[in-house]
Amino acid sequence: MLEGKKILLGISGSIAAYKCAALTRLFVKAGAEVQVLMTTNATDFVSPLTLATLSKNPVHSQFVKNNQGEWTNHVELGLWADMMIIAPCSANTLAKMANGICDNLLLATYLSAKCPVFFAPAMDLDMYLHPSTQANIQTVIGYGNTFIEPNAGELASGLVGPGRMAEPEEIFEKTVSFFSNSQPLKNKKILITAGPTYEAIDPVRFIGNHSSGKMGFAIAETFANAGAQITLVCGPTHLHAKHPNIHRIDVTSAAQMHQTVMENYASTDVVVMSAAVADFTPAHTSKEKIKKQGADLQLSLTKTTDILAELGQHKNKQLLIGFALETNNEEANALEKLQKKNLDLIVLNSLQDKDAGFAGESNKVTIFEKTGKKTAYELKSKLAVAQDLLQHLIQLLHA
Ligand code: CTP
Repeated sequence: MLEGKKILLGISGSIAAYKCAALTRLFVKAGAEVQVLMTTNATDFVSPLTLATLSKNPVHSQFVKNNQGEWTNHVELGLWADMMIIAPCSANTLAKMANGICDNLLLATYLSAKCPVFFAPAMDLDMYLHPSTQANIQTVIGYGNTFIEPNAGELASGLVGPGRMAEPEEIFEKTVSFFSNSQPLKNKKILITAGPTYEAIDPVRFIGNHSSGKMGFAIAETFANAGAQITLVCGPTHLHAKHPNIHRIDVTSAAQMHQTVMENYASTDVVVMSAAVADFTPAHTSKEKIKKQGADLQLSLTKTTDILAELGQHKNKQLLIGFALETNNEEANALEKLQKKNLDLIVLNSLQDKDAGFAGESNKVTIFEKTGKKTAYELKSKLAVAQDLLQHLIQLLHA
């Protein structure tokens, strides 16, 4: 079931570490190649010798082995793996993952990993329920990692409640299901735009908007995990794309985004325009910084090209997915854009919804199909919204 798959199992310090012996055995029996990483604390709970024997590979826990200058290369380990599973993920390791702290080999490998990362927390009830732990889980999910929820039950302390690491069989099932269902977009070339555009007024000023790019990046990661080859054209953003199938092209202005999208359109199967493209740009960009003379300043703006409308006009085999950000008359406006721009799907964001929209981690959308079918979703994380969009796209591709 996992023949040839390369799995990196990261074990941190929790009593649930003993379950990793069974998990390693399940992976190896299913044909996977397993390398185990342990924090020093984890080695108090389960013996590295047990895991080395079961995984048929040496266990890594130190940057430098044997004090003889032999170096464990975390970057190589991170590149080697098809999947990294951090189980058990202790409260401490989780907090460090949320904050980019890198004080051991497991964390350095996590930060370097290009593959999908799953994490299975294990800790006592009150630690698990603490708001900081819950916030850390959301942050780590927000980085594109997959959360394996702990079970509720009797914990090592005797308390009863959530915090018990998922059973080895459950983690194994999730891994198998990931590898078998994970390629519905295999061989598809998908162009995604994300983030804002900046329209220069002069060398130091621009007209921009509040788009963070998070929705577009979540879609790119989700679709890449589904096997697609992604070209991600993004406006200015601090976000990082993790997946190796994502080819990122940075642009600044609407005109640059337009040019880049058109250059890539012919070879693309699906376009997702989630970028917040400026509709107007300064008619002239001043070469020098504009001085504050006079009581007011008139800026003359001209219309940018509507990229999506142009794609709709030249549509051949491509499926087109647009976004509509509305503050009023939402549904009618979204449907008008769907029809006018010759789209297959439109994702409506309403700025009237609290916690939905630009900067946050969550979004609340309604998806309209060309047929008029409407699906309204609850408020959920942007990654979960990307999963819903993936399901719509899979249906469209099979229609
Ligand atoms: N879009 C585009 N090029 C533009 C403006 C918008 O490709 N110059 C795309 C957006 O990426 C989005 C869709 O068109 O997928 C709708 O964008 P939106 O800003 O909601 O609507 P507009 O068409 O710009 O209309 P308006 O601003 O009047 O609502």
